[in-house]
Amino acid sequence: MQAFTKQFISEELRRRFSKANNVLVLSGAGVSAESGVPTFRGGGDSAVWKGMPFRVISSAGMVERELPEVWEWFNYRRGRLASLKPNAAHETIARWQDRFDTLGLVTQNIDGLHQAAGSRDVIELHGSIWRARCCDCNARHNVRELKFDNGVPGCFDCGGHLRPDVVLFGEMLPTGAFELAAMKAESCELCFVVGTSAVVYPAASIPEIARAAGAYVVEVNPERTPLSDLCDEVLMGKAGEILPMFETLSHKEAQKAQNNFA
Ligand code: OAD
Repeated sequence: MQAFTKQFISEELRRRFSKANNVLVLSGAGVSAESGVPTFRGGGDSAVWKGMPFRVISSAGMVERELPEVWEWFNYRRGRLASLKPNAAHETIARWQDRFDTLGLVTQNIDGLHQAAGSRDVIELHGSIWRARCCDCNARHNVRELKFDNGVPGCFDCGGHLRPDVVLFGEMLPTGAFELAAMKAESCELCFVVGTSAVVYPAASIPEIARAAGAYVVEVNPERTPLSDLCDEVLMGKAGEILPMFETLSHKEAQKAQNNFA
């Protein structure tokens, strides 16, 4: 693929980026790809764990039938994620919090890398691998530091069985998360869709809501997706290479505006 250059960012997008007050970012697995997190599709789709496809081990049925095995799988994933660091895309998005009056960040990722980069108030549509939820009392607990090799950890409050606080195949999204994301989509002026194959709903409907409400929608992805045709612009390339370019652009634009004013 040809290296992405600043000239590919249209005048229209530069102008909108410089003026925007309310921006929304929807991120998917691709935003963490450059940190070393495997994506689900385009390589990771066929991932198996002890002979079980990802869709089976990460399913609601497995939590009911084989919770110790679910934890074994999630402990393996936690172990792999623990050493990974945010990349330039996560860092750029975190800095956009100070760049715009309102920045909404909605992620499908459970890896916590946006927060590790400094993003606050991240709407985690699919939960977090660093949290567990009690199957009995529903209490949520931070389990980042919790070490155990086998079995099922007990709830710190009631002693009931804890399960990973992530959305598994066949489960509903956390209460209110999608509604909040949809509200932000309705009010944003500019919506970036970064590193998602846009095939999993309702997450993929967020940019559709933004577009229908009049936002300018920009996709950042090395590949086209089912959403590409709906987007106002598609920037084909890696998030960690493309997003940082907006920072330098915005600084230059701001400088230009200041010079014109002086
Ligand atoms: P996918 O794995 O479906 O898609 C990853 C997307 O990232 C693809 O479109 C890639 O082309 C793109 N990509 C790869 N490298 C990239 C890079 N460096 N920069 C930008 N984009 C890149 O991931 P999601 O769309 O997040 O749900 O998947 C959605 C949901 O499907 C996941 O949250 C998960 C899975 O089922 C649950 O586990 C509930």
